[in-house]
Amino acid sequence: MLNLTINGKNIKVEEGTTILQAAKDNGIYIPTLCYDDAVKVYGACGLCVVEAEGIPKLLRSCSAKCSEGMVVNTESKRVVQSRKIAMELLMSAHDGDCVAPCQLNCPARTDCQGYVGLIANGEYEAALKLIKNKVSLPASIG
Ligand code: FES
Repeated sequence: MLNLTINGKNIKVEEGTTILQAAKDNGIYIPTLCYDDAVKVYGACGLCVVEAEGIPKLLRSCSAKCSEGMVVNTESKRVVQSRKIAMELLMSAHDGDCVAPCQLNCPARTDCQGYVGLIANGEYEAALKLIKNKVSLPASIG
């Protein structure tokens, strides 16, 4: 077992445990975007960074392993600033142009997100008009 400190909390973990897992197991939240338990660690988003005393670079907690005596800070000013920059970089190449899977699979490429949004706003006529832009007889394939 290894002993370390995360945000001032003393923690014991098994060797080989990532900082992210150690934090999670002890109720300490670290934001993640690309991490998923079910797949191999990718380490690309940079949102899970943390600071460890004596280590000049920020560590990606989803891939960095705990070590004996490690002192980790998940909320320092430097960490928060780095996450903010990582998020801004991710968003800079994203214009809100995501296309819903239902639209990608619709044979007519109907704007599903659009008409569902209009329906949610109570704009039923506009929703129907949007559907009919692509599908002249919606009942026939709907
Ligand atoms: S969760 Fe994306 S780099 Fe760690």
